[in-house]
Amino acid sequence: MRSVKIFLDSRSYEISIGSAMDLGEVLLSSAMKKNVAVVVTNATVARLHLSKVLVALHKTFNRVEVVEIPDGEQFKTWDSLNQILTALLSWGCDRGTVLFALGGGVIGDVTGFAAATYMRGIPFVQLPTTLLAQVDSSVGGKTAINHPLGKNMIGAFYQPRAVVCDLQYMDTLPLRELQAGIAEVIKYGPIHDMVFFQWLEESIEAVLAKDEDALAHVVQRCCEIKAQVVSSDERESGQRAVLNFGHTFGHAIEAGMGYGVWLHGEGVAAGMVMAAELSKRLGLVDESFVRRLTRLIGRAGLPTKGPVIDAVDNAGRYLDLMRVDKKSEAGEIRFVLIDGPGKAIVRPAPDSLVREVIDACCK
Ligand code: NAD
Ligand code: GLY
Repeated sequence: MRSVKIFLDSRSYEISIGSAMDLGEVLLSSAMKKNVAVVVTNATVARLHLSKVLVALHKTFNRVEVVEIPDGEQFKTWDSLNQILTALLSWGCDRGTVLFALGGGVIGDVTGFAAATYMRGIPFVQLPTTLLAQVDSSVGGKTAINHPLGKNMIGAFYQPRAVVCDLQYMDTLPLRELQAGIAEVIKYGPIHDMVFFQWLEESIEAVLAKDEDALAHVVQRCCEIKAQVVSSDERESGQRAVLNFGHTFGHAIEAGMGYGVWLHGEGVAAGMVMAAELSKRLGLVDESFVRRLTRLIGRAGLPTKGPVIDAVDNAGRYLDLMRVDKKSEAGEIRFVLIDGPGKAIVRPAPDSLVREVIDACCK
């Protein structure tokens, strides 16, 4: 088993990475009351993976309950949050109850927010079942639901007590979801680690084939980078924003197309090409870097062009949606840009240039 630690004083925790791990064993070391466990999941994941988790939890906890929320980004909403909170209240759950998020980033984000808000905060554990959730969303304590006017706009920073990344979950993950996760994997190269990027260029076929060693390396390296960034800037007062490379354009794609039409990772993939192109037009990277990044994204089977989200004024619609981004200041959009391969910065860009990039990068 591999392990990565997030250092955040009293909120520090361990990410365990392995295959077919004994969940009960992994949880032994975490200092939580083992009285009531509530698993939050959806029908898709429950059908595939819930029974094994329940066996482990029944051995560890006195009582185990399950809440199933509907599957999909379009259900990352107040209604789903309320469904979880209502279940907890109706079962008389107290502050010692531990929530388990069994699923992808949607389950993780909603469950984390429920844990942050129920009785002003109860412990929760992330059991991420998608690649995207293992390399990114389960780590770092960002929890949220969507608002029709903007993605992830309602939420809290709230750290889990533990993250357990079992690579066995990847066996059942559809290719399109694996590819969406690879978008967040690729992101770590341009913003932080071009050695890892080069390894990905050499190993992308192995990752797509779900080779276990390749996946283990991917999850460990991504979690190490994320742990380093989050440990130094938990609440995104600066450096953490670089983890949003590709996300400003990507969130506009998700919201503009309607949540769930483009997967989060697909929006990030096309968004990274757009952000790289903007970086180039600002003189921060050269054309060969944009081509290199675009090539790897394409080899992963991910979109390298954004969709047209408005037939009349596409760039204007992108700009409107991007102004709702959490990095915006006084209505000015701030982009994560690549300032030479391996280093990211956050800064505004002239609307006219952003329009040119959108026109060049959408089809
Ligand atoms: P998701 O949670 O919607 O999961 C994708 C699909 O795969 C779902 O249909 C799910 O039921 C299914 N699934 C999950 N595990 C499976 C498995 N093992 N086998 C078969 N099917 C499985 O999507 P996602 O890509 O995991 O996460 C995207 C979400 O994560 C977005 O809402 C995004 O905003 C969020 N996110 C959050 C952070 C953060 O820091 N909190 C970071 C990145 C992304
Ligand atoms: N996924 C971006 C972050 O965790 O900050």
